[in-house]
Amino acid sequence: MIEYIGNKYFHLKNSKVSYIFYLMPNQQLGHLYYGKALDHLSESDLDYLAKYENKAAGTVKFSEEDSAFTLSDRPQEYPVYGTSDFRSGAVEMFDGETPLYLDFKYHAHYESKGKERVLSKPATYAEANESETLTIVLTESEHDLKLELNYTIFEESTVIAKNQRITNTGKTAKKITKMLSGHYELPSADYDFLHLSGAWLKERQITRHNLAQGTVSISSLKGASGHQHNPFIALQHKQGTIDTGEVFAMNLIYSGNFLGQAEVDEWDNTRLMLGIHPDQFSWTLKPDETFETPECILGYSDKGLNGLAGEYASFIERHIIDRKWQGQNRPIVINNWEATYFDFDQEKLLKLAQISKDIGIECFVVDDGWFSNRDSDRSSLGDWYCDTKKFPDGLKSFADKIHQMDLQLGIWFEPEMVSPDSKLYQQHPEWVVRHLHKRIAIGRGQYVLDFANPEVVDNIYQQMKKVIEETNLDYIKWDMNRNITEAYSTYLEQNGLNQTEFFHRYILGVYELYTKILTEFPNVLIEGCAGGGGRYDLGILYYSPQIWPSDDSDAVERLKIQSGTLLAYPLSSFSNHVSVVPNHQVGRMTSMKMRQDVAMFGPLGYELDLDQLTESEKKEISERILFYKQHRALLTFGTFRQLIELDDRNNEYCWSVYDGATGEAMVGFYRILAEPNPSVKDYIKLPFVSETEVYQVNNETVSGQVLKQVGIRKPYQFNGANHDRAQVKGDFQSYIYHIKSIKQ
Ligand code: GLA
Repeated sequence: MIEYIGNKYFHLKNSKVSYIFYLMPNQQLGHLYYGKALDHLSESDLDYLAKYENKAAGTVKFSEEDSAFTLSDRPQEYPVYGTSDFRSGAVEMFDGETPLYLDFKYHAHYESKGKERVLSKPATYAEANESETLTIVLTESEHDLKLELNYTIFEESTVIAKNQRITNTGKTAKKITKMLSGHYELPSADYDFLHLSGAWLKERQITRHNLAQGTVSISSLKGASGHQHNPFIALQHKQGTIDTGEVFAMNLIYSGNFLGQAEVDEWDNTRLMLGIHPDQFSWTLKPDETFETPECILGYSDKGLNGLAGEYASFIERHIIDRKWQGQNRPIVINNWEATYFDFDQEKLLKLAQISKDIGIECFVVDDGWFSNRDSDRSSLGDWYCDTKKFPDGLKSFADKIHQMDLQLGIWFEPEMVSPDSKLYQQHPEWVVRHLHKRIAIGRGQYVLDFANPEVVDNIYQQMKKVIEETNLDYIKWDMNRNITEAYSTYLEQNGLNQTEFFHRYILGVYELYTKILTEFPNVLIEGCAGGGGRYDLGILYYSPQIWPSDDSDAVERLKIQSGTLLAYPLSSFSNHVSVVPNHQVGRMTSMKMRQDVAMFGPLGYELDLDQLTESEKKEISERILFYKQHRALLTFGTFRQLIELDDRNNEYCWSVYDGATGEAMVGFYRILAEPNPSVKDYIKLPFVSETEVYQVNNETVSGQVLKQVGIRKPYQFNGANHDRAQVKGDFQSYIYHIKSIKQ
């Protein structure tokens, strides 16, 4: 998959994609192409691509030796600001207070096959026959630095994974002040910058900016990827749709502070960059030390947003999430949070468990409140042992009872936090992230533990280990409910390390705890969570195959949250729960049908007091669970596709999952507000069906050609008169189409 041509050009290619770069006249790396596979490239094609006339005569030149060469408008592979290029660079270093204008020149390159999965280091992984990695070694002879740029290409994927390693080969320490992971340039600004923005309860809403000269950026400086922005960024061609047009994207395998930006220069070149946020960050590189950036995955499609989403989803399931969960049934859970909040005891939970079991649920998750004296969110975080008021017979006895019912057991933890009112805090006030000054910010009544300190990580691990062993635990919900302020670590201070390394070291500490748990308990399914979706990123997915996406469980809000999330992440990663009405976050009334129709796309769960439901509601749930179990593989791992164009005023959504091997599909149609006398756009085309086959659509028979060219008919809406024929009525409508190919 890797070619080295004419001692100058590097071509990474597979059946879908080509990525090409070359040695520029100054021996630095220039970018040439990323896009649809270029199959039979000759050297003269490459010479043609590399031919270049800089755009303005007045630009500063790179050196006195070559009066024609400038970096000012050149697409590069890993640019440095201030070296005849005035755009933002990818790497910046200092020697003391002196900025270094780095000049990394090609030194050597080598290739390797496959990529091992190293638990402590979230990154892509692959078998030997599935990927090839090209490493380019560059050196900076004036400042004694070695830079290695890694590029990995995978079989049958448009994704190119990139990361970088820098080593100090000199005799004095230097400081890295910026080192991004992803960098990509396009000679055009005919794109929208697309990303996922939001807030608590409304995470990952699709947001677009029209590109124009200047910079648009998104970021987090909260110590977590955050609710507000997500490390996924994309450039979508202005004429693009959900199914057409080129899209270039990036995502970072990282859960901490990040910066993503698109910069358009005066010649309409667009530079896209993504990596650890350079603010609040610097890293001291002593002689012989190496710093490595988190990995970034570049994605490409010429088939619009659905094309890109499909590329990313299958890639992430295969090369980032632990493959053991691929195609594995995810348990249908009942979570007691919205059912009881803190007001529960073992009897109440066992009753809920029994009803859950009776209606077909498979896993009982005890949420917040089971430990120490935790009766509200003001105490006890950090003291991870059973609250004997709530569980007089102990946690083990409760766990045994749950297991005897043939249910799995899950337990909620918030490992990174401590309450001021806790034993842990009394014993170790120095384990809290806080500055030496008196004032300390507090969020949800809790402090953040200093995960840059290995002793803290180990203490929490030992506590969790005891609970996991005692309860024979199947499932962990790992929460994280506040962001980091006044970042300062006593541990770093005592060990002579810079506080500017704190945020990165904190996240490495979080990964260390995941590593310890999964090394000892590899079969525990960990569900990620951070006040809902405050850390929905590829770093977390490396350990947790699924994430609680939002504290907003309202079906209508979930239409938007899920549609945004699935542009960048697989359906199998998105946990959905059916909750009570009026909904606890927005007070909306939706039918049980709609709540279940929305929640069944992805891993399904319930989060309500089943004991308060009528018999007919319970029956409705158990019937749906039965249906879900029959189609779980399709609804979790099928190829997801939006069938209605996405914009921020969507009144209608149409989701589909399709299994190419069986020809089976499930389509969910949702209309938020009923329309009087609706327009005649009554059909939705199914692009995935085969024109030569015949399908059963619920109880009708329709040919593939009709479904493809005309589509499925939208459900009949109530129009004031059609009482017998209306299939949907009122606001918050939903309708499911089950589509099967009939072999003739
Ligand atoms: C966060 C989570 C919720 C729930 C509560 C418990 O808000 O997102 O799902 O677990 O914490 O305190």
